[in-house]
This record gives sequence, structure tokens and C-alpha cells, in this order.
Amino acid sequence: ATSIPADDRVPDMGKRQLMNLLLLGAIALPSGGMLLPYTYFFIRGAGGGGTVSKDALGNDVIAEEWLKNHGPGDRTLTQGLKGDPTYLVVENDRTLATYGINAVCTHLGCVVPWNTAENKFICPCHGSQYNNQGRVVRGPAPLSLALAHADIDDGKVVFVPWVETDFRTGENPWWS
Ligand code: FES
Repeated sequence: ATSIPADDRVPDMGKRQLMNLLLLGAIALPSGGMLLPYTYFFIRGAGGGGTVSKDALGNDVIAEEWLKNHGPGDRTLTQGLKGDPTYLVVENDRTLATYGINAVCTHLGCVVPWNTAENKFICPCHGSQYNNQGRVVRGPAPLSLALAHADIDDGKVVFVPWVETDFRTGENPWWS
């Protein structure tokens, strides 16, 4: 039989558990707080991480070229982060929006087409609707379409994960 270490025979278990809790808290709090800036640095900082947007033919999207062929209000699918279909948005002043809209429906994952006439994204699968920025306006979709930053780097459109507040809802991004 193994002998019980002296420490474990201390009768005052309540006190020990409290000490363990305090110890855990002291470790968990600072590391939890450190995690976000750390992640943020590696995604957006050093080395300009991100994914170059690809057009339907698989070529890198060159911002200037894109704007020659896509007019104000245009929303066209490109390949985005993790290969997700992502809309590039041309603003009314003929600049590229600084965000891309992930086209994967938040209901069951159909790719949601843009409907110019309705000025909305309308899902063909179960009828969910999203406004022209991808904010959900009709269910069954429970959430707005995910965002990605659309930066321009060396003339190319580069998607970078969106970890900040969702500007459409004022809420934390559900996708990050
Ligand atoms: Fe889009 Fe169901 S998958 S509404």
C-alpha cells in the first residue's frame, strides 16, 4: 500500500481548496489578459500576415485593376481567408471598402448571392437576408455575415482577420 504524503492528511480541506482557487486565479487572470494582444500582434503585426484575395480565375486581386472593372456599389466574390468566398465591396466613391464580407450564410452555410435590385444579400436556401454590409435583417440566419479587413498591400488586396468590434452591430465579432 502506498503511504499518504503528510500534506494530504491536513484536515482543513476547505482552506486548501480556497488557496488553490486563489492560486489558479492569480495565474489565469494575467495570462488571459496577455493572450489577446499577443494574438493580435501575430495576426496583424510583424510581417504583414494575411491572405491575398484571389479572383474567380485564382489570380491575385490588384486593387487598381479591380476598380477599373467593378463600379460603385459592386459586390463580387473573391477567395478570402481560409478559402472562404468573400465579397469585395466597391464604395460609391469608387474606392474599395476596407472590409470584405464573408458570403457563408450563418444559418446552414450556403453561399449567399448579392441581389443588386434588392440591395441585399439573399440566401437561396432558406431566405435569410442581409443588408448591403452583410448585417442580418431577416432570419432564419441568427447572425450577420462575418467580416474581414480588406487592406491594400503593394497594390494587392489582402484580407486580414477581423478581431475588432463589428461596426454594424457594435458587438464583439462572433467569428473570431
Ligand atoms: Fe442561408 Fe439557411 S443556409 S438561410
